[in-house]
Amino acid sequence: MNRYSRITGTGSYLPPRRVTNADLAAELGASGVETSDQWIVDRTGIHARHFAATDVTSSDLGAQAARNALEAAGIAAGEIDLIIVATSTPDMVFPSAACILQNKLGIAGCAAFDVQAVCSGFVYALTVADSLIKTGAASKALVIGAEVFSRILDFTDRTTCVLFGDGAGAVVLEASDTPGILASDLHADGKHVGILCVPGTVSGGKVMGDPLLKMDGQAVFKLAVGVLEDAARATLAKAGRTAEDIDWLIPHQANIRIMQGTAKKLKLPLDKLIVTVDQHGNTSAASIPLALDAAVRSGKIKKGDTLMLEGVGGGFTWGAVLVDF
Ligand code: ACO
Repeated sequence: MNRYSRITGTGSYLPPRRVTNADLAAELGASGVETSDQWIVDRTGIHARHFAATDVTSSDLGAQAARNALEAAGIAAGEIDLIIVATSTPDMVFPSAACILQNKLGIAGCAAFDVQAVCSGFVYALTVADSLIKTGAASKALVIGAEVFSRILDFTDRTTCVLFGDGAGAVVLEASDTPGILASDLHADGKHVGILCVPGTVSGGKVMGDPLLKMDGQAVFKLAVGVLEDAARATLAKAGRTAEDIDWLIPHQANIRIMQGTAKKLKLPLDKLIVTVDQHGNTSAASIPLALDAAVRSGKIKKGDTLMLEGVGGGFTWGAVLVDF
């Protein structure tokens, strides 16, 4: 019998502090940085984002999302034999956020590691977990995207600080004799490192270089729509499906214009697009599982639906995963 993996539960968690565009514009304005609700909504579709308190880490947000996913799957934390956390804002340089999160779940012994592929992190992590389940190396995995991007934002740079938010999403992925994860397609092109990066690092006890996010928004925009279409088409071809088979498109929630552009290229009606960027902003690796969980809990996504998950982000990285839910 063939061995596959299936999503059996989803969960998410947002830190309680919700910051609307008007709140942010007022805060930024007080330090001489001009922006407006209208500019942010027109260019990005974002109305609000959540920011974590300064003592709250990615593993805190991720652990809460994981607990919610475990509850939805109806399994105990102790049954998990693999934890993968996708994050670019880990609690520490090391150990991984996954190890810290494992301890917060009150379990020990199972494999735990982070995947760093920026906003493509969740599709990378889901693909790795699917592969480990298919080989028999794992049977019940937690795959989590968790970020505190507010920590790496330059609040004097209005072209980036209005775009991002904090949060976490998680899925439980279990071995199954029927396929849930149908196919995936992952890519990277390191020559684009400079268009989206946090160039600083820790060295000799000091931060070397700039530890805040830098982005060439227009360069990212141009690359994103093309690679998202290519990844979706390649994934559909691997699975022997067509775009008409997609019930829900869940792209990385970066910017409504990129998301709608991708749906149009795939000739999908916009009512098949799951949108949470309006309420969450761009939460990087957390955005896809956050959007998935919101749509599952609102009753939009139902068991048996076919989902196209798509990520794109710094690296440059991109990829897609096709799922029978
Ligand atoms: N408020 C008001 N005005 C602003 C703001 C702001 N927050 N930010 C920029 N502007 C101004 C600029 O200064 C510029 O003014 P000027 O014409 O007087 O020079 C004007 O608005 C236009 O700026 P552009 O950068 O040309 O605006 P653009 O239409 O390209 O929109 C944006 C910028 C929203 C960043 C867009 O390029 C974009 O969405 N890019 C993709 C970014 C993205 O999605 N990144 C994440 C993907 S990967 C990941 O998630 C990590």
